[in-house]
Formats: sequence, C-alpha cells, structure tokens
Amino acid sequence: MESIFSPTFAPMKDKGKRNQWLVPKGQEPTEMDRIILHHQQHGKIVPTRSLIKTPEQIEGIRQAGIINTDILDLVGDRIKAGISTKEIDQWVYDYTVSHGATPACLGYEGFPCSCCTSINEVVCHGIPNEFEILEEGDIINVDCTTILNGYYADASRMYVIGKTTPKKQKLVDVAWECLKIGEQVCSEPYIFVGDIGNAIAKHAHENGFSVVRDLCGHGVGLEFHEDPEVDHYGKKGTGMLIVPGMVFTIEPMINMGTWEVFCDEDDGWTIVSEDELPSAQWEHTFVMTEHGVEILTH
Ligand code: MF3
Ligand code: CO
Ligand code: CO
Repeated sequence: MESIFSPTFAPMKDKGKRNQWLVPKGQEPTEMDRIILHHQQHGKIVPTRSLIKTPEQIEGIRQAGIINTDILDLVGDRIKAGISTKEIDQWVYDYTVSHGATPACLGYEGFPCSCCTSINEVVCHGIPNEFEILEEGDIINVDCTTILNGYYADASRMYVIGKTTPKKQKLVDVAWECLKIGEQVCSEPYIFVGDIGNAIAKHAHENGFSVVRDLCGHGVGLEFHEDPEVDHYGKKGTGMLIVPGMVFTIEPMINMGTWEVFCDEDDGWTIVSEDELPSAQWEHTFVMTEHGVEILTH
C-alpha cells in the first residue's frame, strides 16, 4: 500500500515546474511533512523548503516591518494637499536611511525612487515627482519596502487628502476590507493561495468593484519578490499551499471600473486603470504560523 509519506506525484495536468516536497532520508516526517505530502499526492502545489523561514529570519523581517510601519505612520502625519509626491519620497528615504535601513524600491530594476506613489486612477508603481502636487479629494497609495539587515518588509496604505467623494471613499474602504478578508482566510495554516483570492474577489464584486489581475502579492523576506504569487482572484484550493514559516504579502488592487490596466509607455512603470477610473490598494507582509497569520507590518 502506498503510504502518504512517499513523495510520489499524482499525474499533473500542466507541464509547469512543480516543487517536490521530500522528507530527508532517515528522518521521521513531522506533522507538517505529513500534511504537505498529503496535499502533494492530491495534485496540489506545495512550497519548497527554501520558502519556509527560520525563527531568526522571521524576527529579522519583523524588525524591518517595524521601521516600515513607522515610515507609513510618518507619511500619514505629514501628507496633505499642496505637497508633492517627491516630498513623500524624500521623507521615506530620510527616515529609512537614518534608521540604518535601505529603501528596497530605490534602484530596483531601475526604479528611480524610494517608494511608489499612486494617485487616483494610478493602480500602482507611480513614480514620485516634484511637479505632482496632491489636491483635496485625491486618494493616494504609498507603497514602501524596507530592507533591514538583509530582511525585507513590504506594505502600502491609502491616504485620503481632505475629503473625497463617497464613491472614492467606498473604494478605499472596500480595498481595506479586501485585505482584511484575505487575512481572515489565513487564520489557520494549510490553506491555498486561491482561497485568499477567491474571498477577496467575492467581496470586491459584491460591492460593484473589480480586481486587478495583472499584478499580485508575493513571497517576501529574504528577497523583494519570492514565490508564491498571491493572486487576488481565483478558485478555492488552487495555487500554492501556505504552511507555517512562509512569509508573503497580500496587496489587493481594487478598481472602480474595469479590472484591466495599462503601463505608461513614457516611464515604463506607472500602472493605470484602462478606463482611468480610480483604484485603491492596501498591503501587508504576513508570516503564517501554526495558528494563522501574524502581520509583520503593523
Ligand atoms: N512594493 C511593490 C510591491 O508591493 C513593488 C514596487 S517595485 C518598484 O511588490 F520598483 F516599483 F518599486
Ligand atoms: Co508587495
Ligand atoms: Co509593496
């Protein structure tokens, strides 16, 4: 009889590269090994061991997350109508380096600034600019990734400039709820990435909004972007199994109109909604534990 401890694969329909979870020879499988092997045998996508962080690594990411949170708090204290997005970038740079950390965005694949500033119809990856001045009623996402002692923490928040329209405020609120719903799905380990996306998309659609599909959350911690890809839509039970020790972001981008987006050809970065209607996003870095996720970017 085949034991659930054998690393045999169920036949795969897709030809994509699959991870193979193995128990080192001569070692007793742990409870986690047994669960992962069970899912593997049922054709599910499982993580590699390299995605499972040690307690020391998690502590390092937690420390990076503390600085990251302080930065987004500082932005919240100072942001207002009349300032430029370049000023926000300067606050992020100054606070980061004066606390012994490095802004991960600066120079990443050639990105020229220390954070992303995405106003109204800009979905994400907006580039701070001295001529871009915040106005009453704008909604802006500031996305900041902090490296401390080699560990990465990634988070973003929406800021409403003064008072905005009820519809834009609702978009900001629903995007926040989508992040919280993703977090709730992760209130126990051994769930799938597709469970998160499924719940998020359901909430967005119930509120008349759409979910961006071309950009996703991701593993994070030792590098800026690691496996798995965390889509904010999808089918329950699909995507990678999430096990204790995995660190990843959830960062739903919710659009008022169509989910489709385009990239600004002039700068090669700025992602804008196809219909140029507003978009909102919130992001946290999480670590999965035996008892569900802990937020590392509070
Ligand atoms: N912080 C973004 C994310 O959530 C990535 C920004 S990459 C940059 O994954 F180069 F645009 F900064
Ligand atoms: Co991210
Ligand atoms: Co981010």
